[in-house]
Amino acid sequence: MYVCLCKGVTDRDVQTAIKAGARNLRDLSVQLGIARDCGQCARVSKQLLREAQPHTASPIRVWIPAAGGSAPAASA
Ligand code: FES
Repeated sequence: MYVCLCKGVTDRDVQTAIKAGARNLRDLSVQLGIARDCGQCARVSKQLLREAQPHTASPIRVWIPAAGGSAPAASA
């Protein structure tokens, strides 16, 4: 499937670039020319990045107070 019609880049091209080390849209833009013209391919490219790198998502931080504990002090 074509991801970027402007540059003729396919999903396989994107997946190959990701396997070779591309970690974000900027990397894909540099390596493949993604999102340099009309930008319509950016959303699909980001989706392919997320699918290929699910372990790199930002961690969710949750504070669970201990029984009888208080909120952590605010840092300046
Ligand atoms: S479709 Fe990728 S820049 Fe236009």
